[in-house]
Amino acid sequence: MSAFPFEITATEGKARTGVLKTARGDIRTPAFMPVGTAATVKALTVDQVASTGADIILGNTYHLMLRPGAERVARLGGLHNFMRWDKPILTDSGGFQVMSLSKIAKVTEQSVAFQSHIDGSKHILTPERSIEIQADLLGSDIVMQLDECVAWPAEENRAREAMLLSARWGQRSKAAFGERDRQALFGIQQGSTFEHLRKESAERLIETGFDGYALGGLAVGEGHEAMCEVLDYAPAMLPADRPRYLMGVGKPIDLVEAVARGVDMFDCVLPTRSGRHGQAWTWEGALNLKNARFAEDDTPLDETIACPASSHYSKAYLHHLVKSEEILGQVLLSWHNIAFFQALTQAMRDAISQGRFEQFRKDFKSRQHA
Ligand code: GUN
Repeated sequence: MSAFPFEITATEGKARTGVLKTARGDIRTPAFMPVGTAATVKALTVDQVASTGADIILGNTYHLMLRPGAERVARLGGLHNFMRWDKPILTDSGGFQVMSLSKIAKVTEQSVAFQSHIDGSKHILTPERSIEIQADLLGSDIVMQLDECVAWPAEENRAREAMLLSARWGQRSKAAFGERDRQALFGIQQGSTFEHLRKESAERLIETGFDGYALGGLAVGEGHEAMCEVLDYAPAMLPADRPRYLMGVGKPIDLVEAVARGVDMFDCVLPTRSGRHGQAWTWEGALNLKNARFAEDDTPLDETIACPASSHYSKAYLHHLVKSEEILGQVLLSWHNIAFFQALTQAMRDAISQGRFEQFRKDFKSRQHA
């Protein structure tokens, strides 16, 4: 029995909507988790993040262990108290960020060794240390196993090695995590774009037994079509009665297509990162607010979204802030984008509940491409 009940309230085809009930509150699914890498969702206060309807945010083991240090966060009362966010937090385990950010990464059966991208200092992460950092020191609600994600494209043998190592690290993570009342542990499926490796990965994870199951190793350069091909089969390999989390995804269209294939949870830096670079996500696609066509556009980004950044300010004003490199431009576009991603997941939850998700998906696609 998992500490966190997962109630699926409606399905349509493979799409599902429901609620994951945690000790710190409900997570409505499909859910989008804003990324708060370094104990902050960049440019936003926690009140602004909460005002968008986000039920959960993501934090990163890799960044927090390097700065300010996991033991320091623990002495300051844990990550929730430190950053003043009292709703659920999911933390990633560190392996993926080591591969993408750190200078040197040496992966062995025992651990991953790396040098900090901040000051070159040397560090080691084992599955057990990652669990200790996430569960005991940061106090995360949803803890991810340490895994190895291969770059794309990958040779089959290389993908198989990383998948098997991830499965063994999953077992070690589970042993270190034990049984907990107020925290959950998710396993991570690997196997690149090889169907039989994804299958073997799923079987090994299920054998170990997790509270939820993530799809890792996607959105690493394979592109939307290839990712959708994997999502045609991979989610169904994971238990239907537990949440499925697609890591590091994605664009609005990726979210809609993944929900159509049975995915429940997402995280991505896209809304905040692109917001800091002058981009706004809307039902009509992405807008570049730097564009001169917005210089005298008196309309808001989306008057139907109950977020001041979406409905209160004109595109002309946002254009001016971005052109002038004003900090407020980054704040407002990050805020709007997070609000839009929450509006999108709310729209998908409503559509599935009301049995009109397929129509929603069609309409969404044609509007985004218009
Ligand atoms: N974030 C995006 N993809 C991955 C992955 O494959 N593993 C982990 N741990 N985090 C990710």
